[in-house]
Amino acid sequence: RVFAPVQVADLRALAVGKLPPNELETLPAELARNDGVLFEAPDPLPEFPGADALIAAVRDAGLRGLGGALFPTWRKLEAVRSAAGAKYVVVNGDESEPGNFKDRWLMEHNPRLVWAGAALAARAVGARTVYFYVRGEYPAALERVEAARTALEGEGYFEGLATHTFRGGGLYVCGEESALLESLEGRRAEPRLKPPYPAESGLFGRPTLVNNVETLAHLAWIAAHGAEAYRERRPKLFSISGDVDRPGVYELALGTPLAEALEAAGGRPDELQAVLMGGAAGTFLRLPDAAELPLDFEAPKLSGDAVGPGALVAFGADRDLWAVAEGIAAFFAHESCGKCFPCSLGTPHLHAAVARRERGPQLEELFLALEQGSLCGLGQAAPWAVRSLIRRFGGVRT
Ligand code: NAI
Repeated sequence: RVFAPVQVADLRALAVGKLPPNELETLPAELARNDGVLFEAPDPLPEFPGADALIAAVRDAGLRGLGGALFPTWRKLEAVRSAAGAKYVVVNGDESEPGNFKDRWLMEHNPRLVWAGAALAARAVGARTVYFYVRGEYPAALERVEAARTALEGEGYFEGLATHTFRGGGLYVCGEESALLESLEGRRAEPRLKPPYPAESGLFGRPTLVNNVETLAHLAWIAAHGAEAYRERRPKLFSISGDVDRPGVYELALGTPLAEALEAAGGRPDELQAVLMGGAAGTFLRLPDAAELPLDFEAPKLSGDAVGPGALVAFGADRDLWAVAEGIAAFFAHESCGKCFPCSLGTPHLHAAVARRERGPQLEELFLALEQGSLCGLGQAAPWAVRSLIRRFGGVRT
């Protein structure tokens, strides 16, 4: 591989107050900057209200998958619950998307809430075993997740459940749910063909509920406070970083306009040229054009821009967005697992094209091959940032 990792680091350097997150041993607790309800675990932790009541509350709350895909959580719960026989719950703590660090914060500073969500979800679907898969490069998170597990076990919270903390394999693709399951089973992390979805055939071929860390934290909060209180707040964690004065994890109500979110983090939207929303697998938004964009689940359908896992990386006027895009393309080429051709061949092509600053219409074919031909989200999302940059900032070179 010939890709210079420094380019990837450039993007990551913007991610947490200019420090590459992997070089921080732990995220400071103070990185949670406002008064989020998700920043503290309810005491005592919620008791299991019964499967019907919990799944109905999750449905009424409108909870969706907060790893970024925004799939209705109750439907996944219901699918696993209705399956017969042995089943599993897997917590996806393999947050690897550059620009995102909200799951890491939760794992390091509020793992009890996430474990509570996992235990409640396991009871709701009828699973007896829970695996918590923590990103390989998050050693402090791993330690604290395991410490919380031991403590909760001692308190009897997991009665009837077997719980395990598992150290991830250290690749971006490990966060893709089916590759994660392969990795849990002791194999190389390569995505499986979907469907069948893990809800039908997951860990060891059994129905498996795979949920993101933040999703399960929300589920626990809903169990403690009810769907109505949740709907009133519509909380969502955002990792806000880059050219803002107070990078950090912010809990904001869904629907908050982009400019307001940036201002909350000490950003000055009128001095910024762009925001990368979602992370490397996200899109560049142009400012001030996107200033009023509501950060909500429905926004993607209107504009093609997904809130995704909730990263906002701000770029000042003097940033070279093409250099950032090159870092992103290098990242995907480096992280492609090699299982499918569209991604393993397409991502190095994309990187080379971006390095040459190509922006002509011929690139569309490459974008389509990646987006429609790749086996998993890694290759599918690889062109999004570059494409949005060309559309919004590049013009077409003739
Ligand atoms: P997806 O849309 O294929 O699936 C979302 C979830 O819904 C999965 O758990 C899937 O199993 C489930 N699902 C879908 N249809 C189902 C059905 N009919 N029955 C039961 N379950 C069903 O998206 P995917 O590939 O899981 O995730 C892509 C997203 O991941 C992207 O939008 C991106 O934002 C995000 N992402 C997040 C990263 C992070 O570090 N947080 C890193 C990379 C990508």
